[in-house]
Amino acid sequence: MVSEVTLDIQPDAERLAAAAADYIATRVRAKPDLSILVATGNTPMPAYAELARRVAVGAVDFSRVTAVQLDEYLGVSGSDPRSLWGWMERSFVEPLGITRAVRLEDPAQFEAEIARLGGLDLAILGLGPNGHLGFNEPPSQPDAPTRTLELTPASLASNAAYWGELAVPTGAITAGMDVILAARACLLLVSGAHKRAILRAALEGPQTPAVPASFLRRTALTVIADGAAWT
Ligand code: F6R
Repeated sequence: MVSEVTLDIQPDAERLAAAAADYIATRVRAKPDLSILVATGNTPMPAYAELARRVAVGAVDFSRVTAVQLDEYLGVSGSDPRSLWGWMERSFVEPLGITRAVRLEDPAQFEAEIARLGGLDLAILGLGPNGHLGFNEPPSQPDAPTRTLELTPASLASNAAYWGELAVPTGAITAGMDVILAARACLLLVSGAHKRAILRAALEGPQTPAVPASFLRRTALTVIADGAAWT
């Protein structure tokens, strides 16, 4: 099953950020009350910073957008430095002037809230080193629901880079594959040579639970990668 995949290769991480900001801003201008599933992680941060610059000069208005949390560790409060809710607030919600945000705490309530929104217009995603989406760790079936789970060693290792001396919580909650794949559009941002093999697997390998990101090819997918991730 393949739908429309657009692959946009930018020469470097800076131009990747500008292209991602263009894509997201265009969507918000077309539908100011866009509902957006929002990845944290390192890759989208320069794009969010670029969007904040555009908001600051009045080039785009996010005040009617709803930001929806993609994933979270278990057992961390909102004020914990490792809280992904806190990271989303600092990097996306506050700098873009967003006034509505959906927090991921209880799987059933979260999926009901998304249904009340009428579904997600856009999912902004990063690519896990093991092919995870959010914290949908391999193996994840395309209908895997929003749920709690234990992180894999690969994700614990990649997430350790975020928190310095602080331990990575081993439990997590993630928006399900069902939620992500039902988004009306998906934007996957990929940067760096360390993502090259998994990006190839996601876009050119079999669609398999072993590479959850491979199922994104079932969606209206735009991939923006830098040259290091796609050569
Ligand atoms: C973060 C998230 C993760 C990251 C992925 C890539 O909210 O859901 O799936 O998007 O691990 O992380 P970076 O961008 O740090 O390489």
